[in-house]
Amino acid sequence: MATLDAWLPRQVQARVREQDGTWLVTGAAGFIGSNLVEALLGLGQQVVGLDNFATGYQRNLDEVERLVGAEAWSRFRFIRGDIRQLEDCREACAGVRHVLHQAALGSVPRSIEDPLATHGANATGFLHMLVAARDAGVGSFTYAASSSTYGDEPSLPKVEDVIGRPLSPYAATKLFDELYAEVFARCYGFSAIGLRYFNVFGRRQDSHGAYAAVIPQWIATMICEEEVYINGDGETTRDFCHVANAVQANLLAALAADEHRDRVYNVAVGQRTSLNQLFDGLVAQLASEGVRYGRRPVYRDFRAGDVRHSLADIGRAGTRLGYAPTHTLSEGLREAMPWYLEFIAQQAACRAG
Ligand SMILES: NC(=O)c1ccc[n+]([C@@H]2O[C@H](COP(=O)([O-])OP(=O)(O)OC[C@H]3O[C@@H](n4cnc5c(N)ncnc54)[C@H](O)[C@@H]3O)[C@@H](O)[C@H]2O)c1
Repeated sequence: MATLDAWLPRQVQARVREQDGTWLVTGAAGFIGSNLVEALLGLGQQVVGLDNFATGYQRNLDEVERLVGAEAWSRFRFIRGDIRQLEDCREACAGVRHVLHQAALGSVPRSIEDPLATHGANATGFLHMLVAARDAGVGSFTYAASSSTYGDEPSLPKVEDVIGRPLSPYAATKLFDELYAEVFARCYGFSAIGLRYFNVFGRRQDSHGAYAAVIPQWIATMICEEEVYINGDGETTRDFCHVANAVQANLLAALAADEHRDRVYNVAVGQRTSLNQLFDGLVAQLASEGVRYGRRPVYRDFRAGDVRHSLADIGRAGTRLGYAPTHTLSEGLREAMPWYLEFIAQQAACRAG
């Protein structure tokens, strides 16, 4: 399996290779964080990872170690720590040039069930990271924002400056992060770039549990030949974004010119797919890998806090950061499916056994 840096445009690879200085990836044991660590190590960089394993896994780090090999892995230092502790953030930021802040508790339903936990990691933890990074004098600060910030704004495609009211505690925390980032630029001259991810998917995304994202959850369910549930009528749409695109956006944001900092950017593909289309696409993709799923989906109620339609305008990230997604949904699924099949099949065997 190729390491993730191989999927990045050549000019992005070259620019990152020219960097000296250390990168900090928070949430390094999670899905997007571990893909960032993999790409950066593959590009010859020094990387510090911070994670408390709230939703991340040691097995993700082990997989990165296997993929990148011993020399690259020797350039990685892991800190088991919690962004809700300011001292852990300070330790992680010491001597760092670029911060890619991914650590947070994802999932809208989780936040509805436990808003305090979501607030602790996503809001308080975020503020700690800003303070620690500002005090450490880092060169760039890029953070995972979210398309959930568009809330009840109905217009499509979503453009960065037109947002509605948040529909969940999760969305409120992500909006809070954007406001704090803005205020830090104004009060302390400390600029940050927020990347509003739209439904990222790819290898190492957790397929397990009530809070799993739709793509890995459905693939696991299909492999187990269980019922796939669609919340609502299936005409809800999403702009699914393969993790290679999200990694590209992070690296470009870290290297962005000063005049393009202090902003938020949509990170997606700019293509809209309904859940019904996704279902059919996954069935077809699995069939091409020899896995047959013969059932139809079961429809149930819409889920509280979910945005109905999501489609990004990625023009700002394109013109100012040079972002150009390399993977559409179908290309991303084709790339990721062998990993899903191998990994999720093991998990599914556990589930069955
Ligand atoms: N995956 C998506 O589609 C998506 C969409 C929008 C935004 N985001 C944001 O992107 C970021 C990464 O998401 P992901 O999908 O990789 O999720 P993930 O759960 O796989 O990764 C998050 C990581 O953060 C760690 N973490 C959580 N709380 C922490 C704490 N208090 N201290 C230290 N580490 C902590 C977790 O253990 C985990 O490894 C998050 O900020 C998420 O809100 C993701």
